[in-house]
Amino acid sequence: MSTANSFFVKELKVTDLSAMVALQEAVTADLPVGFVRWKAENEFRAYLDGTRGIAYGIVEGSTLLAISLLRIPDENHPNGGLPFPLVPEEDWSVCACFLENTMVLPAVRGRGYHRVLLRARLAHAASLKMKWICAGVPLQNSVSWANLLARGMAITGIRFDLGYPMIGLLRSCDALALPSDSNDQVWIRAQDPWHHQAALQNGYIGVRLGSDGSVIYQRLFSPGMRPTKSIWWKASPRILDRLRLRESVLFSCQRKTEPNRL
Ligand SMILES: CC(C)(COP(=O)(O)OP(=O)(O)OC[C@H]1O[C@@H](n2cnc3c(N)ncnc32)[C@H](O)[C@@H]1OP(=O)(O)O)[C@@H](O)C(=O)NCCC(=O)NCCS
Repeated sequence: MSTANSFFVKELKVTDLSAMVALQEAVTADLPVGFVRWKAENEFRAYLDGTRGIAYGIVEGSTLLAISLLRIPDENHPNGGLPFPLVPEEDWSVCACFLENTMVLPAVRGRGYHRVLLRARLAHAASLKMKWICAGVPLQNSVSWANLLARGMAITGIRFDLGYPMIGLLRSCDALALPSDSNDQVWIRAQDPWHHQAALQNGYIGVRLGSDGSVIYQRLFSPGMRPTKSIWWKASPRILDRLRLRESVLFSCQRKTEPNRL
């Protein structure tokens, strides 16, 4: 696979380990805490030797410019804990894979490498007959989650227990799996975690960006697909205080006065 500028996407191998570690150092040096979940060398290795998933990179000549991981569960390494929001219980342990650790060197950002790496991982997941592709992105990292929304992922959860709002994005390999109603929409300001949470708790999912940068949420069609309780729904009281939750506004009340804006 190659891009127009003779950059190549390649599956990374154990021989790329030191270059990956160096790239992570370079990318995370200036990032706010939590933007990327930093990985130790042995964690990277488990993607390079195929134990935990796969790694793709973009290279020019022998220089690694960008990396990304896809965590792939199997019988030996099933997903643990509670299911990702909207992933059915029966699919959770071995049919839901995770996009992780995309990092593009600052000098080559904005060239579409994130998009290219996303495409490579989605194709890989489809080839393995995975049913769901999940990702967790800090709400603050709008470049990252906007790219995922543009590739057909939907916001299906938000969590607060890590110290900052983190949204969960989900895509199904079955195009019909997350049906939502384009006639029942709410627009949520991108950086307003509480209204994202309210929309999700009321059975909406975030499907794309609106013209003003808001996220357009649409109501899920099937009542059977309402989100289940999970860590993604729990906001710790400490975080609630720290983020200074404005007067809590009940979603339903707000919709009466301002039907499409939150
Ligand atoms: C987030 C990140 C991976 C994006 O990589 P990238 O290769 O620059 O992204 P792309 O070039 O594929 O961008 C795709 C879209 O995002 C837009 N975009 C990229 N950088 C942007 C920026 N700084 N501000 C606004 N939009 C931006 C592009 O214009 C493009 O939009 P388009 O589809 O309308 O043309 C990169 O910025 C990065 O490595 N950040 C630090 C690590 C990180 O946050 N990783 C994600 C962890 S969840």
